[in-house]
Amino acid sequence: MATARLKSIAEPAKGCRRHVFVVCRGEECLHKGAEGLLDDLENVRCHTGQDLRIGASDCLGHCELAPAVVEDGQVLGAVTAQRLRIELRRLGLS
Ligand code: FES
Repeated sequence: MATARLKSIAEPAKGCRRHVFVVCRGEECLHKGAEGLLDDLENVRCHTGQDLRIGASDCLGHCELAPAVVEDGQVLGAVTAQRLRIELRRLGLS
C-alpha cells in the first residue's frame, strides 16, 4: 500500500528534526481542499525557513478521510487549514 511506502520515506533520520508532509492529490482529496493544504505548507516553508519536506501523492487509499495528509509517517484525516495550523504549531513549525 502507498501508505507503507510513504512511511519509510517519511521516517526522519536519527537526530534530524526535519518533518515530512505528503498531501494526497487523489480525486477525493483534491475535491475537499488538498491543493490549499499544499499551498499552506509551501507558505510555511517559504515564510519561516523551516526545514520541511513537502510532497504530493496519488490516492493514499484513505479516501474516507479526505483530505488526507501523511505527517512524519502518520496518516491524518479530514485535514482542514485550521487543523494543519494546529499540527504545525504542535511541531514548533509556525
Ligand atoms: S483520494 Fe486521497 S486518500 Fe484517496
